[in-house]
Amino acid sequence: MTITANWSYPTAIKFGAGRIKELADHCKAVGMKKPLLVTDRGLSTMPITQNALDILDAAGLGRAMFADVDPNPNDKNLDAGVKAFKDGGHDGVVAFGGGSGLDLGKAVAFMSGQTRPVWDFEDIGDWWTRANSDGIAPIVAVPTTAGTGSEAGRASVVTNSETHTKKVIFHPKFLPSVTICDPELTVGMPKVITAGTGMDAFAHCLEAYCSPFYHPMSQGIALEGLRLVKEYLPRAYKDGTDIEARANMMSAAAMGAVAFQKGLGAIHSLSHPVGAIYNTHHGMTNAVVMPPVLTFNRPAIEAKIASAAAYLGIAGGFDGFFDYVLRLREELGVPDKLSALGVGTDRIDEMSAMAIVDPTAGGNPVELTLDAAKRLFVECI
Ligand SMILES: NC(=O)c1ccc[n+]([C@@H]2O[C@H](COP(=O)([O-])OP(=O)(O)OC[C@H]3O[C@@H](n4cnc5c(N)ncnc54)[C@H](O)[C@@H]3O)[C@@H](O)[C@H]2O)c1
Ligand SMILES: [Fe+2]
Repeated sequence: MTITANWSYPTAIKFGAGRIKELADHCKAVGMKKPLLVTDRGLSTMPITQNALDILDAAGLGRAMFADVDPNPNDKNLDAGVKAFKDGGHDGVVAFGGGSGLDLGKAVAFMSGQTRPVWDFEDIGDWWTRANSDGIAPIVAVPTTAGTGSEAGRASVVTNSETHTKKVIFHPKFLPSVTICDPELTVGMPKVITAGTGMDAFAHCLEAYCSPFYHPMSQGIALEGLRLVKEYLPRAYKDGTDIEARANMMSAAAMGAVAFQKGLGAIHSLSHPVGAIYNTHHGMTNAVVMPPVLTFNRPAIEAKIASAAAYLGIAGGFDGFFDYVLRLREELGVPDKLSALGVGTDRIDEMSAMAIVDPTAGGNPVELTLDAAKRLFVECI
């Protein structure tokens, strides 16, 4: 089954296998003459990236690339990227990759026009209004994983390399002008990345769905996103070339990002310090901490999860859903404990202090106190 569509929600999304070939057209349409393709180091030498550069080059847009980008990208990557953007005289960014390449690319486009430090634009209150929004270069986003949904989101996650904290940087214009969702680009993801990124999409939908704020639109999107992950993530994991499964996971990822405008929760609050300190994969970390957080939140979400379970065709209400999450993790090779990802118990106090001030903590349906965070970390590690 081939899925091709043009959507204009939440931005212009060109969805379908093979549509990377339209890359140069969309860059030109948003006014780029000399784009900088930003991706992470790992992707920079892969054929999908070289092909994207060939497409730009063939259309007279050059083949400039900045790939000095780590997984869990940081402020040093960002500074170097902004320098490359300015030195090269670029006028737009092709943000290409998983969340790391996408977020750093979006941040380069944003910071190319700012005079204040990036931390002044953390996702707190109306801090984003401090930005010079005319200075933001246009962004065309091309996801190569199906998880973060950064291609459909207004945030960028940047690690502060001094304090080892992950900061969510927010501005409405972080939303790319055009996003190309081409599921063929995700076919080469290693199994562990397919699993981890897919579980990130699941975590976004789950936490958005459970957060207590009033946002029925997000609620509906989150629920259908959960269903897509349930139906298609095991298929994509089993057979990476299953394009129908890959396509539906790309949808689920974008839907997760749209849905979490409603809020995230303690899965992300715990996962952010772990990722910042131990450099673990974000989605995989979420998957490990998910069951303990579900149990912690149970008093506030039992009925909600029971309705989600009914929609997903899972019998047994909250308990049935909980068991389903455990089975899914097992099927995807997700370890049971964070220790399997290299996380030790020696920094629990520090990570707990970071977790409770993470901006996502405010969306958790049960208050995440310092004590609770410590107990959850002990259980997860
Ligand atoms: N902006 C947001 O709203 C948002 C939401 C969630 C997570 N994030 C951030 O996104 C980052 C994680 O992104 P991610 O999970 O997509 O992982 P990633 O971008 O770090 O990629 C993981 C690895 O997979 C490789 N890779 C990517 N695509 C590939 C492909 N098609 N084939 C082969 N290898 C491929 C990369 O080179 C990298 O080594 C974290 O920094 C996280 O904090 C951002
Ligand atoms: Fe996430």
